[in-house]
Amino acid sequence: MGKALRFPEGFVWGTSTAGHQIEGWNDNSDWWAFEQKGLIRDGSTSGKAVDYWNKYEDDHALMSELGYPAFRLGLEWAKIEPSPGKFSDDAMERYRSILASLRKRNIKICLTLNHWVLPMWVAEQKDWMNPKTLDDFQRFVTHVVEQLGEYPDMWVTLNEPMVPAIAGNLADEFPPQRKNYNAFRRVGSALLEAHARTYRIIHSKVPKAPDGGPTLAGIAQAYQWIVPWGTPGLAGQYEKIAAFVFKRGSFDAWDLSVQTGKQVYPFGGRFIANLRNSYDYCGINYYFRMSVKYDKSRKDQLYVDEKQIPDGIERTQMGWQVYPPGFYLTIKRVFGRFRKPIYILENGVADDADTMRPRYLLQHLAAVHRAISEGVPVKGYYQWSFTDNFEWREGFCKQFGLVGVDHADPELKRVPRRSAHMYSEIIRANGITEEIVAKYAPEAMDAVFGNTWDWTK
Ligand code: BGC
Repeated sequence: MGKALRFPEGFVWGTSTAGHQIEGWNDNSDWWAFEQKGLIRDGSTSGKAVDYWNKYEDDHALMSELGYPAFRLGLEWAKIEPSPGKFSDDAMERYRSILASLRKRNIKICLTLNHWVLPMWVAEQKDWMNPKTLDDFQRFVTHVVEQLGEYPDMWVTLNEPMVPAIAGNLADEFPPQRKNYNAFRRVGSALLEAHARTYRIIHSKVPKAPDGGPTLAGIAQAYQWIVPWGTPGLAGQYEKIAAFVFKRGSFDAWDLSVQTGKQVYPFGGRFIANLRNSYDYCGINYYFRMSVKYDKSRKDQLYVDEKQIPDGIERTQMGWQVYPPGFYLTIKRVFGRFRKPIYILENGVADDADTMRPRYLLQHLAAVHRAISEGVPVKGYYQWSFTDNFEWREGFCKQFGLVGVDHADPELKRVPRRSAHMYSEIIRANGITEEIVAKYAPEAMDAVFGNTWDWTK
């Protein structure tokens, strides 16, 4: 027998998606309206996306065929509540069929209640800036939990709340395209409260998970491993401060607020009812390291360029640097802070030719394994993503799928990439074996089993 990194028994293996990115026809939403302005980089709009709305049965069949035991998917508020207080029975029935189809196949369900997108009527009332939106969201969540509460094995209240708070309110990248620091603070603070309220609603209405175990709810937090570039002198000091600020805004302020129940800077400073202890697990989404480099020409970016990549480090098609130790260190840090079980709810790479993906996945799984072997209770890993999908501002040109979908094909045929088969083999082996690495990414053998990386920083 060759070398192997085996995962604990019962480890949950899955793939991850979001409603708007795969379903299609989310035409009553803020993102749909934003896309019509011609702002998507490849000129596309989400349109029919990959038509999961109609093709879900076939997708689930393919998932079973590939042997993927768990699936993370999202619901679209705009479809379920197309106008204030009026729920669509048709949309609810469709979601019920989708979840029932997964259940029938014994595929575990991880359900996200909000993955950024808002109904148009919420956008029109000034989204999370308007305190009324919190009550509206609470009404939506209550309805969903009452209707569909029997299905999810675990719940994600919000996906990466700080991403739309930053991209939509500071960086002009996402709707509603604000560039306003106070708006960022208010939206972030509202999202903290939305999470706390949603967590409570789930627990009050769903006393147990379907397998009889405890109800599991939390968020999927976007973590980057953020480090200063290391320029000598004063510029280097500035890089340290900038890295601190980026970390604080991207996840630290959120995490510290949840830890204590009281919002910390840059949020408002008030206590939020039920915020403390509102994680049954910590959900980690990790893709890349960010090295913060001083650049005096970048006035709009706090004088830093965070997209530069040190020599010898790979860059993905998103322009992100590949850095598995950052994943391991993030997992350790999050566990150190919350002492809760951890689920990796996203990790993956845009790679249409599927040449980087096998080694990317193997090395990142090796990082997860390293954390587990040091006693961190990582319970599951969801790869982003099952199929190619609508990658927000990037459109369809960035392909994150284990399963490829050619957007130009009217049938939107699903074609599993080599990585899809590699993932099946990993799941079957409940780990990474030398044979799997030799077959799919022999170039990564040392990085997976040896000591190529420095795991300390
Ligand atoms: C998001 C996904 C997105 C992925 C890749 C995550 O930040 O939750 O919706 O597609 O990253 O960019």
